[in-house]
Amino acid sequence: MEIYLDNSATTKPYQEVIDKVVYALNTDYANPSSIHRKGIEVEKNIKLIRQNISRSIGAKDKEIYFTSGGTESNNTIIRGVVSIHKKRKNHIISTTIEHPSVLNTLKDLEDDGCEVTYLKVDEHGRINLDELKEAIKPTTCLITIMHVNNEVGVVQPIQEIGKYLKSLSEKIYLHVDAVQSYSKINFKPSRYNIDFMSVSGHKFHGPKGIGFMYIKENNRLKPMLTGGGQEIGIRSGTENTPGVYGLGEAVKIINENLDKTIEKIAKLKNLLKDEIIKNIEGIKVNSSDDGVCHILNISFSGIKGEVLLHYLEQRGLYVSTGSACSSKKKGSHVLNEMKLTKDEIEGAIRFSLSDLNTEEEILETVKIVKESVTDLRSIIGRK
Ligand SMILES: Cc1ncc(COP(=O)(O)O)c(C=O)c1O
Repeated sequence: MEIYLDNSATTKPYQEVIDKVVYALNTDYANPSSIHRKGIEVEKNIKLIRQNISRSIGAKDKEIYFTSGGTESNNTIIRGVVSIHKKRKNHIISTTIEHPSVLNTLKDLEDDGCEVTYLKVDEHGRINLDELKEAIKPTTCLITIMHVNNEVGVVQPIQEIGKYLKSLSEKIYLHVDAVQSYSKINFKPSRYNIDFMSVSGHKFHGPKGIGFMYIKENNRLKPMLTGGGQEIGIRSGTENTPGVYGLGEAVKIINENLDKTIEKIAKLKNLLKDEIIKNIEGIKVNSSDDGVCHILNISFSGIKGEVLLHYLEQRGLYVSTGSACSSKKKGSHVLNEMKLTKDEIEGAIRFSLSDLNTEEEILETVKIVKESVTDLRSIIGRK
């Protein structure tokens, strides 16, 4: 039996997604910019997909721009907005627990003379709204904050931030990295007063290398890629048609019954948490109870997360020690910022679920984890 609980790193594509990708490669392979019938057919299909995506978040079609995913969306938005405003306003506010695609972009902008304030987080990974308000300066042009953290699943108060920014007389743009929240929280960027948003297809059973940006109507940014002027000049380059078709299918399926899907995943996550608490000693749950539906981060004391991960892998259970991007490096910057002890950081495992998981898999997971933890602790001489 194979149990895949590493869905924050990436998800298994739906079969319908794979079929659409193959269809695009086999049949709809024409360039959507071509003016012959085959090209126009592809252009028409992309238009329908854009429409479906915009509807899923209550946006307008022209507010959706296809990109290669979360990293490109984050880079394009942060660099593109700052580039327009930095002569007059070069201050950015973010947090210490962002994804590397944001943190390393900000680092680069700091090297170029921008000023960045990194908000600290509490023991649950949450920022303090008052600290955000205090950090705002006359030179602040952008606030970039992730909606849901990919390692512990904490949800930031985006709606409150948006509401506060709307009340200010001076415009400050709000960018939200929604890579871990799109399809896991049912929300509309316009209701949250979000100006820019990043989404990635492979986090909800779409293909890798495709995603989209939401850019609120009339908001401007300097494009990172120049060329043929595709995506209204914001993202040049021949459209990734197989990716867009696959993404469109994933969006369609996940939004068919979103609230029910979210409820199902949350129920499985809570079952996993409750059963681990009940059955395994010496653990600490690092994800707060009001976190996102699909992420559960737990530290197993006296055990190295990496060793446990490989132990679990032998029995067909796939998890992660942190984010896929940081798991090959030492330690988690997120758990570090949450002030966990060294033992807790080293012993952390992230279980991340999807709608494809079942209750049977969760109960089997608890059994495998319990036996593995017991084995490893006995090997290293602990009870
Ligand atoms: C919160 C967050 N932002 C951005 C990304 C990057 O997305 P992509 O893999 O599509 O570049 C990830 C992926 O792990 C993520 O979890």
